[in-house]
Amino acid sequence: MNAQDVIALEQRYLLGVYGRAPFVLERGDGCTLYDTTGAAYLDCVAGIAVNALGYNDAGVSQAIGAALSSGMVHVSNLYHTEPHARLAELLCSTSFAERVHFCNSGAEATEGAFKFARRYGRAHGGDQKVEILAFSNAFHGRTMGALAATPRPTYQDPFRPLMPGVRFAEFNDLESAKAQMDERVCAILVEPIQGEGGIHLAEPTFLAGLRALADQYDALLIYDEVQCGVGRAGTLWAYQGFCTAASGCGCAQRCQFEPDLLTAAKPLAAGLPIGAILMRQRVAEVLHKGDHGSTFAGGPLVTSVAHHVVGRVAQPDFLTGVAAKGQLLRDLLAEINNPHLVEVRGRGLMVGLELDVAVAPVVSRGYDEGLLLVNAGPNVLRFVPPLVISEVEIHLVAERLTRALQAL
Ligand SMILES: Cc1ncc(COP(=O)(O)O)c(C=O)c1O
Repeated sequence: MNAQDVIALEQRYLLGVYGRAPFVLERGDGCTLYDTTGAAYLDCVAGIAVNALGYNDAGVSQAIGAALSSGMVHVSNLYHTEPHARLAELLCSTSFAERVHFCNSGAEATEGAFKFARRYGRAHGGDQKVEILAFSNAFHGRTMGALAATPRPTYQDPFRPLMPGVRFAEFNDLESAKAQMDERVCAILVEPIQGEGGIHLAEPTFLAGLRALADQYDALLIYDEVQCGVGRAGTLWAYQGFCTAASGCGCAQRCQFEPDLLTAAKPLAAGLPIGAILMRQRVAEVLHKGDHGSTFAGGPLVTSVAHHVVGRVAQPDFLTGVAAKGQLLRDLLAEINNPHLVEVRGRGLMVGLELDVAVAPVVSRGYDEGLLLVNAGPNVLRFVPPLVISEVEIHLVAERLTRALQAL
């Protein structure tokens, strides 16, 4: 089938909820994707912050092969298997968490975290303690609960009524969070680095203030690290970067930045669908057999692959490399001479370039320049390449972007 036939077939049979690039991808290698004409694209999207180890990675292929050799892609949570137990142990030993629950996506992790928080709220404060405090500009997913905490009219309005019990404060404005807090709040939900909302870092004082606020009201602090977690920010978990920068405690013990719950998904299993909800023991204690579950979650194939990914990304050298490469990318972007550039921001390889105009023409021109980019809101170009991108490739990104910006 040629590219035009594939595109026509998709347009005939698939629901039209996505805008897609005008070519058909055929294969990938490292940080490069190739279309059916053989054109190569340096990938700064990575499946939207998913493909941390890039494409055609030998270790991932081997992990998949080894997992498949058991013959068990899936068995259900009715049975014990080693891979999900080992992955849960790894996630706990590298974070604040004492327990893990697996699911299949970021939105599903948000939903689970809401359920756990409401269970905790009821147990600690009665039937009124079920409200969730979320923030302006947030993105937590498209399912009905997650959507209720994603305050964007274009996403929410066609699908009302939304899940009740979500209130909002301004991101990075602790006073507005304080004004929204009361005994009915069971959880505060925040992205330490907002992704879809335009790559905005939480202020350390804001996160520490939310921690204190949650404690004051016996509410849970939930970090959504679906996009910024698993190495993307140059630390395994994004919150650990706040911790190290502010107090140097390295999160070996409870610190002012640690959450009670953390949601992860995108890069965990190298593109296989998985989500995880990490939590403290005091959250786990209020949940009992039968309270929550999912058919596919935590299967032996996905958890074997996720163990491989997390094991590699968690290596100190790997994380230092992500931080350094992120700095290089930000430096090179800041050097680009174009009148439309407003600001470069981000941490690690989660970088935003804000323009004073819509970025859509730059994304399109990027295709002609052999560069895959994605927006984060109308005016921000988002750079979330595979974490294995090389310095040479980062220089290429800057060169190609400089040319793509001429589309403006
Ligand atoms: C911070 C954040 N939370 C949740 C989600 C939802 O994840 P998923 O698309 O896997 O449902 C996303 C997806 O972009 C995200 O960036």
